[in-house]
Amino acid sequence: MCGIVGLTGSNDTLNQLRTALAALEYRGYDSAGIAVVDRAKGRIIRHRSALRGAAIADLGSERMIWPGDVSAGIAHTRWATHGAPTHDNAHPHVDCRREVAIVHNGIIENHRELSTRLVAAGHVMSSETDSEVIAHLIEEALASGLSTRHSVRAAIAQLRGDFALSVLFLHDPELLIAARRTSPLIVGLTEHTAYLASDIAALLPITRELYALEDDEIVELRPGTILITDAGDQVITPRPLEVTWDVTAAQKDGYADFMSKEIFEQPRALRETLLGRFDGSLRPDFEELSIDATALALVNRVIYLACGSSYHAALSAALATEQFARIPASAEVASEFRYREAVLDQLTLVVVVSQSGETVDTLHALREAKRHGARVIALTNVVDSVMTREADGALYTHAGPEIGVASTKCHLAQIALLEAFALHLGWVRGEVEEELLREGAIHLLATPDLVERALGSAERFLDVGRRFHEVDDVYFLGRRVGYPIALEGALKLKELAYVRAEAYPAGEMKHGPISLIEPGVVVVVVATRTSLWEKVMANVEEMRARGATVVAVIEEGDHETAALVDATLEVPGTMEFCSPIVDVVPLQLFAYAVASARGNDVDRPRNLAKVVTVE
Ligand code: AGP
Repeated sequence: MCGIVGLTGSNDTLNQLRTALAALEYRGYDSAGIAVVDRAKGRIIRHRSALRGAAIADLGSERMIWPGDVSAGIAHTRWATHGAPTHDNAHPHVDCRREVAIVHNGIIENHRELSTRLVAAGHVMSSETDSEVIAHLIEEALASGLSTRHSVRAAIAQLRGDFALSVLFLHDPELLIAARRTSPLIVGLTEHTAYLASDIAALLPITRELYALEDDEIVELRPGTILITDAGDQVITPRPLEVTWDVTAAQKDGYADFMSKEIFEQPRALRETLLGRFDGSLRPDFEELSIDATALALVNRVIYLACGSSYHAALSAALATEQFARIPASAEVASEFRYREAVLDQLTLVVVVSQSGETVDTLHALREAKRHGARVIALTNVVDSVMTREADGALYTHAGPEIGVASTKCHLAQIALLEAFALHLGWVRGEVEEELLREGAIHLLATPDLVERALGSAERFLDVGRRFHEVDDVYFLGRRVGYPIALEGALKLKELAYVRAEAYPAGEMKHGPISLIEPGVVVVVVATRTSLWEKVMANVEEMRARGATVVAVIEEGDHETAALVDATLEVPGTMEFCSPIVDVVPLQLFAYAVASARGNDVDRPRNLAKVVTVE
């Protein structure tokens, strides 16, 4: 999505802005821009670029003439939502008098009515974006005599939608003002400089003195200082942001790309996520959860809400919750849940699952669930992400920064934590006997080693992927715990290799999709030894009888299944509810191999962004 950075008080403003923007590239962008105050000539200088994939570098090229004496500056990487990815739509945007420049991340839902009113009042718009109205609203408020802070306050009061924005003022050249609602924004300090960014990765190389901003708070940045005021214009004490990551943790550490690094980090991500989750007698420990065991025991329904890979983890969680807690549990796509008239009450527990903790569909679903009176837990990988601040309780995967757009280590960590939570729910509800709890805990705690063992076959998985890298028509099949694995395998192949891949419950093929099966079609089936293995193998026969080439995820040494398929991806066996953690690993590498063989950028697939902060 869009990324914003800003700083004031530096003696190397332009280089620091460009370096900070470069740290946000992984979020995906199609244009970039910088605006600074040229103190010598008393004007705002702005340069923008829509050079595909090189806009940030373009901002440092000779054709961009920058003034020598600059103070504050703002910068932006844009992922187009309203208006094509063109130069004129790139941020920063300025007002009519070029006395205000703004950068924005989010969507202004009422931008058309605001723009209509502003044009009627004589303002001239120079872009197709929703964001530009912000600059003109601030211009209008300043012209009415309001101060800079109150002009920004007046402007954001008229906005409907999500925003993280920063403003530069010609007539107060050392001041930056920033504000947020839903979209992420943090501020940082060094002795002489104040910084802001939409992502920790942009500021970590510069400072670890970081602060989180809450919705509708305004922060004023001057060299080396920040002043935060709340919606009631009261000054508040900045809240330090706890950051345990260092920048190198986000580097590639010798791997070809972030994705392969993060695939091989999965055992560690699982170990750190499960660390301390079960006490010495293997009983679950969720002490940090602000919803205590008594309240949890009264819960009569659980709804998991998420998007993408997190939704697939949520599907596994729902199955485990019904298995262990013996209460109704379901997983829903957040963007759909938000608009259905859900029937919830205070005995409904909603768990939002999100790697970033910022996905706007899931955030709005969280708010909708709270509006209906449900208790909400946010399970995310990012401390202090907006969902964890708005939920009633927070649980964290400890997978470390996940830079690759395609989720891998966070996906596995989510499943592990969610299934530990399902065991916890079953335990506090008295539905899980001590023996079953111990068995479940032992198998969950063994998953890091099992994933490590599966990764020992990485080259074989990659070979199978390379063997099928030219196939354009792939189906993924699974039953019960195998279906979310099939969904995740199909998503990985779509988002990385741009291959049309569909996942179906294996039993569903005969209700229509089997008409697509013919020689040349590849079917990937999850055929590890669950209680439904025989049913799955019957579906394999149906596929092969119609000429499909079948690739099967099977347990190590399962020669019987291997003899019935064309290629195998062998993994260690485990307890059925833990299999989504282990069985998805070969499918990640299968997709990685196909994408690499096709020459795709596995870290930044086309059209995708790591954090989807627009609807
Ligand atoms: C998965 O590989 C994708 N990157 C995408 O589907 C992602 O899982 C989805 O956008 C949800 O993101 P979140 O976990 O940060 O909410």
